[in-house]
Parts: sequence; C-alpha cells; structure tokens
Amino acid sequence: MVMSNSASRNVSPHRPHFNSLVSSYRPEDASLDNDMHPVIHAGRVALITGAASGIGHAAALELAKLGLKVAIADVDETKLNAVGKELLAILGEGNVLVVPTDVSNIDQVVALKDTVYDAWGEVAVLMNNAGIMIPSASWKELDAWKKIFDVNVMGLVNVQQTFVAPMRHQENPAMIINTGSKQGITNPPGNPAYNASKAAVKSLTEGLAWELRQGTGDVTAHLFVPGWTHTGITTSGNSLAPKPPGAWSAQETVLFMLDRVRFGEFYILCPDNETRPEIDHLRIMWNAADVTEGRPALSRWHPNYKSLYEEYVRENMASLD
Ligand SMILES: NC(=O)c1ccc[n+]([C@@H]2O[C@H](COP(=O)([O-])OP(=O)(O)OC[C@H]3O[C@@H](n4cnc5c(N)ncnc54)[C@H](O)[C@@H]3O)[C@@H](O)[C@H]2O)c1
Repeated sequence: MVMSNSASRNVSPHRPHFNSLVSSYRPEDASLDNDMHPVIHAGRVALITGAASGIGHAAALELAKLGLKVAIADVDETKLNAVGKELLAILGEGNVLVVPTDVSNIDQVVALKDTVYDAWGEVAVLMNNAGIMIPSASWKELDAWKKIFDVNVMGLVNVQQTFVAPMRHQENPAMIINTGSKQGITNPPGNPAYNASKAAVKSLTEGLAWELRQGTGDVTAHLFVPGWTHTGITTSGNSLAPKPPGAWSAQETVLFMLDRVRFGEFYILCPDNETRPEIDHLRIMWNAADVTEGRPALSRWHPNYKSLYEEYVRENMASLD
C-alpha cells in the first residue's frame, strides 16, 4: 500500500519526549570532578573488558584519572599491555591489573574474576564492553553469526554470570554497564548479525536491571549506547585513520557515559557530531511504531514510506523550534 501525504498527519500517537539535559550536552560540560558518587569513586575498583582499544581504552584512562583501581581485559594482549603501561603511569604499582581474557571463554572469565577478587576483593564498576563487528548477511556467513554472537552476546552473558553474584555480596554498591548499540534498537539494514547481537544486549540488560531491582538495589545495571565513535570498530582497526568530523572521540563518548551513569540513568544514548539526540529519539519512536501501526519491517528504508518518514522528522523537529 502506498501511503498518501494526507495520511501523515497523525503518523503515530507517540511523540518523543526530548530530554533537554541530553539535548544541550557538550562533552566539556561533564561533571567528573564530583567525587561524592559512591561507586565511581577514588579507591574503588573498575573492570573493563575490551579495554585494549577504543571505548574500553578511553574508559580505563578516565576511571584511572578519577583514582579508581583499574583491571583491564582483552584478547589483544599486545595492545592490552600498552594500555596497562599508560594506567601504571597514572595510578602506580598495585593499582592496575592486566588480564588477557577472551570473554567468549567462560573459563577465562572465571579466571579473570578470581584474579580481580584475589587482588582487591571487589568490583565497583564493571564495564562489559568487548565487542566485534564483522560483515554478515541474513542467509550467508554462518561463521560470522557464530563469532559475533559468541563475543557480543555470550561474552556479556559469561561476564554477567560470573561477576554479578559476587558483586551483589559486596558491602558497597556497584554497577554493571553493558555496551549496546543504536543498531540494536533501530536495526538499520546492512549487518543483521551485529544488529541482532546488540538487540540481544538491550534485552538481556533490561532483564538484568529488573532482576537486580528485586534485590537490595545495591547493584545497578545500565545500557550504554555509544553514538558514532572513532575506534577500532569504525576504522577496521586502523589506529592512524583521521577522525571523521561526524564522529565523537572515544574519550568524548566515555565522558558522556560516565556523566549520565552518575545520574543513575539506565538508557545512556550517546550523541555524536552527526546525529542530534532528538533525531535518535524520532528514529527509535518510528521503529517502535512499525509494530504498533502495522507497517512493513524497517519501513524507514521502504521506498513507499520514505516521504512519510521524512515528513514525520520534519514536523517533529519543527515543533522544537
Ligand atoms: N565505535 C562505535 O561507533 C560504536 C557504536 C556503538 C557500539 N559500539 C560498541 O562499543 C564496544 C567497544 O567497541 P569499540 O568501538 O571501542 O571498538 P574497538 O575495536 O576499538 O574495541 C573493541 C575491543 O574489544 C576487544 N575484543 C574483541 N573480542 C574480544 C573477546 N572475545 N574478548 C575480549 N575482548 C575482545 C578487541 O580486541 C578490542 O580491543 C563494542 O561492544 C561495540 O560494539 C561501538
């Protein structure tokens, strides 16, 4: 069915609520000097997976600057050791653990837990961040599907299964931050296995948050959704590639995430220099309304709905001005 323009007036009863704090955010506004937070606090322990590169690397550095002891895990041992040296220069001996780990291997994840708990007896901030993106197609590349799910889904599940129980038994509050993706929410065509893995991360993190809420609430879960960030994943590992103007640096994304997590937010949807938060919200609402309005799957990319979608964005953006 071809939609006429007249049908576009009430595209959806759902209008996004624009969070003015997020809309007006600039990385330089980050309030990281606040040392009153019980979890992101000097002397406590951060563990970051996928810390040899990109977002995980930047998170390790920012948490170290705040005085947390930092444990880093990654499959890339060479790069991980280099990050370990940077952390040592900030934190000094005794405050850094470098633990080569493949998160898709449960035995290695259990060994990681033993190493961190034997050394420091707790984990305050757990960043479950390791991830891969390799090409996939819906009825081809079965190996890619398996690899992506082994790391992006089972890697996160292995870490949750191993760490959440001891974190809940600690005296002090703690948080687990799972790294998802906008691709797991709006599902853009092009890499179905990656999208599906990140949709699973959204689902399992929402479930985790609910289950944790049934307890004391001392451990919280957060879904960290980076925007376009200049890292190994977006440059196919080319660390010398210049940052495109539309992307944020890994440090900008991490500063935004840490700032939002300190406010206790569950969904941490990061902007970048290309996509305003309001546009992200409209895309998410449009995607959800495919279901409630009975439109074809991924109608945002369907030729019959192109003009309707564009009008929806135009009208909603105009209502902001
Ligand atoms: N960069 C972006 O624009 C973007 C956007 C949305 C989500 N993300 C997510 O952010 C997370 C971090 O990625 P990044 O962008 O920093 O890319 P990156 O490639 O720079 O970092 C990912 C790290 O994960 C490590 N890793 C891969 N497989 C692993 C395994 N089995 N066990 C342990 N470590 C492993 C890699 O060695 C690498 O150091 C990923 O989950 C990614 O999906 C990134």
